[in-house]
Amino acid sequence: MTSSLLQTYNQYPLTITKGAGSYIWDATGKKYLDFYGGHAVCLIGHCPKPVVEAIKEQSEKLIFYSNVFATEPSQILAQKLKETLLPHDYKAYFTNSGSEANEAAIKIARKHTGRNQIISFQNSWHGRSISTLSVTGFKKQHSFSPNLLEHTHFAEFGSVESVKKFMNKETAAVILEPIQSIGGINKAKQRFYTELAEICKQNGTLLIFDEVQTGIGRTGDWWFCQTVGVTPDIITTAKGLASGLPISVVLIEESISFNVKKGDHATTFGGGPVVCAAAKATLDVITQEKDQADEKFQQISKNLLALPQVKKVKGKGMLIGIEIGIEANLVVDKCRELGLIIGTSAQKNTVRLMPPITISKEEITEFAKIFSQALTAL
Ligand SMILES: Cc1ncc(COP(=O)(O)O)c(C=O)c1O
Repeated sequence: MTSSLLQTYNQYPLTITKGAGSYIWDATGKKYLDFYGGHAVCLIGHCPKPVVEAIKEQSEKLIFYSNVFATEPSQILAQKLKETLLPHDYKAYFTNSGSEANEAAIKIARKHTGRNQIISFQNSWHGRSISTLSVTGFKKQHSFSPNLLEHTHFAEFGSVESVKKFMNKETAAVILEPIQSIGGINKAKQRFYTELAEICKQNGTLLIFDEVQTGIGRTGDWWFCQTVGVTPDIITTAKGLASGLPISVVLIEESISFNVKKGDHATTFGGGPVVCAAAKATLDVITQEKDQADEKFQQISKNLLALPQVKKVKGKGMLIGIEIGIEANLVVDKCRELGLIIGTSAQKNTVRLMPPITISKEEITEFAKIFSQALTAL
């Protein structure tokens, strides 16, 4: 049958019908171990029971009401997110996708500073709206004439010297994906994060950490900025926050939040009761699980580095890149054939793993076995 969907995706030849924990099933009943996590969304696995319960309970009480009235779940979630960032104070603004969160972050930075210029990084990904494309560091995406392109400079990721070349009194914000995920799981040296924060402060430029993939426990701490000891002015996150329901959040450091006035920004669906209840239940599970993310990374790394085809294992926690001597596409296809879902990246020879932080030791062993079989078969 010809699909009635607009064909913007290069889809794999299977239809997913069911998910539970670390596994998904296709329409033929075939089971797959999911180390792709629905593109980093299923952070605590598929259909986690506490989240399903929270959705059921909230949807029987109130599915939606406009932000012109207060609803309880968004207040509770904002408080919970604030607690993850203590001792620093942040205010939460809920939106629906990573792009929208970054869009709002740029808007707030421009208003706060009264400046227009943005510094971003080559190979970064910040979204597909027309403004967030402007700050996404892939030239291919700039063919859509993104509106802020003339106000954006792309520095070299990991180089403070490169940032300094572009920074001046017109620089409103630096937007950083602290571990570049789509770019191939690129992490910078500790010094880069610290010095970047320092030069932003000296210049009155806001530092935006796009933690859409690194945040809410995936990389071990609640936030990657905490791992590197930096306090960004604005943090954005999305992906796994509500275990698959659409939500994102802009967290704005309190002193900056005072400059955002009533009427400056709005959204119809952002902060709806059901997504917020799902997110609160997700955060409760993450609280129990996140401390094991680094240990699980070590276990996965150890298994991978024992394979002769693996050159390097990169990343942190459950955001992992594997450099191999084979084209990543071929590995992804072979793994899928053998019952394992993994992802590609912008780097031809790097595959990406974004498994749930709830992954078990046995599932890691199963992953290593299938991955090794796939490499041997190629
Ligand atoms: C780091 C990062 N920022 C922003 C986005 C955009 O998020 P969304 O697709 O929800 O708009 C993505 C999407 O993959 C991302 O990885």
